[in-house]
Amino acid sequence: MPITKLQLKGRDFLSVLDFSTEEIYKIFSLTKAMKKNPKAYRKKLDGKMMMLIFEKPSLRTHVTFDVGIKQLGGDSLFYASSEKNRIGVRESFYDVAKNLERMVNGIMIRTFAHNVCTQLAEHANIPIINGLTDLEHPCQAMADYFTISEFKKDLSKTKLAFVGDGNNVAHSLMLLAARLGSTFALAMPKGYEPNADIVSKAKETAKKTGAKIIITNDAIEAVINADAIYTDVWASMGQESESAERKKIFQPYQVNAKLVKNAKSDYLFMHCLPAHRNDEVTDDVIDSKNSVVFQEAENRLHVQKAIMFELLRD
Ligand code: CP
Ligand code: NVA
Repeated sequence: MPITKLQLKGRDFLSVLDFSTEEIYKIFSLTKAMKKNPKAYRKKLDGKMMMLIFEKPSLRTHVTFDVGIKQLGGDSLFYASSEKNRIGVRESFYDVAKNLERMVNGIMIRTFAHNVCTQLAEHANIPIINGLTDLEHPCQAMADYFTISEFKKDLSKTKLAFVGDGNNVAHSLMLLAARLGSTFALAMPKGYEPNADIVSKAKETAKKTGAKIIITNDAIEAVINADAIYTDVWASMGQESESAERKKIFQPYQVNAKLVKNAKSDYLFMHCLPAHRNDEVTDDVIDSKNSVVFQEAENRLHVQKAIMFELLRD
């Protein structure tokens, strides 16, 4: 697809759908350039301050945003939210936004309810980036499809099978697959379907791009002929009390040596991490030659640098 000059400056990235197909490819080509030659981008966000708000734990998101903004010449401020200073609780979203827009140049927030992100974005005149909510994990999906693009030339011809919970990561991957015109198959147990609004947005988008969205309870149907098999934890952050029950229900959806035989022989195994080894994925699969999980994690850094650059630059 030809890339024209795009204007992402000042925009938010709360959902995959905030970027058009063209903008996604533009971010991917900038990511590739930044990954290849990071030195060329050393001062691009000189003097810019990113605030990183975490209301849930993190390893990759914290480190990659922090290192990423610093590699671009900016700086970061870590804000660990606690019960008492949770955004929108101690004071209104409006007041928080109106303060912060005068102090920092951009905010990444990881939180529970998606509307915390959207409320901040509505009132703050600076870019807000979603670093994971209960509904979406858009930066993860961008890093994931960028990773697939390092192996497969034409993303629109790929099939990604997500086996497990219809969760935030599945939602963002589904929306991105829809934007890219590719095939996305989700297999999950009954009762753990993805959010209906996300599915309808993905299907609506798919009509325009030629993407195929498959939602099934049959793990083999999802995995057949897949170029990539993806899984995630069975209980996401905030669902810890359901862990034992989910462990039983999701067992037939474990990604193991038997299941992956249904995919293409050169399939990629993907996981956003952290993994619960030998629950959602067996050691032999996550440690196999098909596994690209650490490349995916590294690509969080490169893709988020490209996103921050586009949103925060002068
Ligand atoms: N994949 C991911 O977002 O990892 P963290 O939860 O460690 O940030
Ligand atoms: N679905 C997981 C993703 C973690 C990166 C969670 O929300 O906990």
